[in-house]
Order: sequence, then structure tokens, then C-alpha cells
Amino acid sequence: MAKIILTGDRPTGRLHIGHYVGSLKRRVELQNSGEFDKIYIMIADAQALTDNADNPEKVRQNVIEVALDYMACGIDPAKSTIFIQSQIPELCELTTFYLNLVTVSRLQRNPTVKSEIKMRDFEASIPAGFLTYPVSQAADITAFKATVVPVGEDQMPMIEQTREIVNRFNGIYGETLVEPEILLPDNKACLRLPGTDGKAKMSKSLNNCIYLSDSEEDVRKKIMSMYTDPDHIKVSDPGKVEGNTVFTYLDAFSKPEHFEKYLPDYKDLDELKAHYMRGGLGDVKVKKFLNAVMQEELAPIRERRKQLEQQIPEIYEMLKAGCAEAKAAAAETLKEVKDAMKINYFDDASLIAEQQAKYSEQQ
Ligand code: TRP
Repeated sequence: MAKIILTGDRPTGRLHIGHYVGSLKRRVELQNSGEFDKIYIMIADAQALTDNADNPEKVRQNVIEVALDYMACGIDPAKSTIFIQSQIPELCELTTFYLNLVTVSRLQRNPTVKSEIKMRDFEASIPAGFLTYPVSQAADITAFKATVVPVGEDQMPMIEQTREIVNRFNGIYGETLVEPEILLPDNKACLRLPGTDGKAKMSKSLNNCIYLSDSEEDVRKKIMSMYTDPDHIKVSDPGKVEGNTVFTYLDAFSKPEHFEKYLPDYKDLDELKAHYMRGGLGDVKVKKFLNAVMQEELAPIRERRKQLEQQIPEIYEMLKAGCAEAKAAAAETLKEVKDAMKINYFDDASLIAEQQAKYSEQQ
């Protein structure tokens, strides 16, 4: 069976380092591994509209921002097909058919949707499109016969829902759809990178994100004002590394070679952590090290983005070509789905002949 990747992001803002360590970095590695027959990266504008119906301009402006962030990180349109969800109407048709295979109570149990409903104050009146977006996500994944979906941990319930739909569909209509596997980051700190304020979720409104497009100075400022251990007041105090954002970020970003380069007094992160817990190590020193590590990783991304920002028309052309390719692939799956469901009236000569025969016999 072909090895196919599909994944994507909602274009509601620029992408931040949570997206980067949670999924983007892995996608680039997978892309460059050459192990996959096909890679689709989708800008999920239609899904973004499920909770931004009153603000389509926000979604419209951020499609290009996400495309720029993708390419800046190393997603290469020559190797991966980047496309925009709303331009593939086949996805809506698949969603319509899949909706019949899912119950409302099952949708209401989805933990990610549940917490999003709470966060958005939707409890009193949930937009139906929002409640059902996991079904549309199942359409996104199955339309491309994806075998692997590299995403963050919060997407686990969507993949679970997709697998249920695939099994239900294949059980009723015969083997048609492919069951996908989720691919999570293998580094625990990358599963859910906290905001710079230590809050569990990075969000634009909390102003606690480091964006891939932030300037060197912005990144430095955000790191230097990061949440650490509130009880670590004097340098000599013993400090906690658990729940200490600076150390969580080091878990996500630092490699042993960084120590040799920027902090040669320590062999590795374990040694640094041990000193911090013992007392005698100040936050500023650790933050400066984190800054060096992160700047090294982010500088090439920032520079590539700067160049790409001068090629907006070319990037739209690339997206247009990506949409055409994605549409062709989705159309093929939709045809198979309709054939399996036998909603292919005009292509089925035997249906017409049999129905005619039934009436002719009665004459
Ligand atoms: N739900 C994803 C997000 O919140 C975006 C998305 C839409 C997606 N369809 C997808 C991700 C299909 C993976 C596969 O960013």
C-alpha cells in the first residue's frame, strides 16, 4: 500500500513554535526522508471558518501567512503538495455521506471539541459546523487515502473519529477507505509546549506565543521574561525544573552539542538541571542559553521567510497548482465512495436494465 501523509493547520494566525516542535519540524523530516509516496499539507480554511464565520477576513489574510511559515520551515512544494481546503468541494460531499455514520452524542464526547466549545463560550449555542468539524476532518484524511497523519496530541480524538468512520463505512459498503495512523512527536516536551507565561495553551489572545516570524529581538525579549519557578528568588535558592517553562523549552529544543558551543561548563541538560535544583544557578544564565539555542534554530527559518515574503504571487501560483492536484486525488476517492454506496445511477447499465426488465415482465 502507498505511504501517504496528510496533515494541516487552520489559518487563524501565524504559526508559532508550538506548531513547529509539535508537528512542523517532523513533517519536514518525513518529507526529506523520501519514505513517502505522497505528502499533502492542507491549509484548513474551511475548518477555520467553523468558529470564525463572522470574521472571514482573518482566515483569508492568514492563508498566505501559513503558506509562508510552511515553506520557511522547509516544506518544499516540489516534494509536498500544499493546498487550500475550501478549494476542494469533493471534501464537502464526503463529509455529507460520513455524517450519516456518526451520532451527535459521539461528537459531543470529543474531548478536544469539548474544550474548544468551552474556550469559545459556545456552550449555549454550538455552531453545527463546529460540532461536526471532526467529520469533515475525516473527509480530509480519507480523501487522500492518508496512511499517516503527523499532528499534535490535541488531534488524537480526530484521528480516532476518522478510524471509526472508516471502519463503519467499510463495514457497510465494502473495503473502500484507508485507516490512518496518527504520528505524535516522540519528545514529550514537544507534545504540548506551554506558553511563555507557563500556561498550558499558547494562544494569540494570551500573548504568550513565540512566532516563527518573530524578530531576533522579540524572541530574546520573550525568552528573558519567561515564567520560571516563582519560588526561585535568590540565585542560591534551590529551583524546580518541573513546570518551569525555560526547562520545558530546553527539553524541546536543546541538543548535547549546544552545551559544548554555548555553555561548556555543563555536559548536558541533566547536569544543568541538577545544578538548578541544587541551588546556585540563576534564571538569567539559563534563559541566555535558551535564547542562544532557539535563535540558532529560528534564524534560518526567519531568513527564508524574509525571502519568501518577496514572492507572494509565485506562492499563490504554487497553491493553485497544489489545489488542482489535490482536487484530482480527492475526486478519485469520491468516485470510489459513490461507487461503493451505489450512488452511480447513470454509470450503472445493469441498474437501468434490471429496472426496465422488472416493468417489462409485468406487461
Ligand atoms: N484540526 C487541525 C488544526 O486544528 C487542522 C486540520 C484540518 C487537520 N483537517 C486536518 C489536521 C486533517 C490533520 C489532518 O489545526
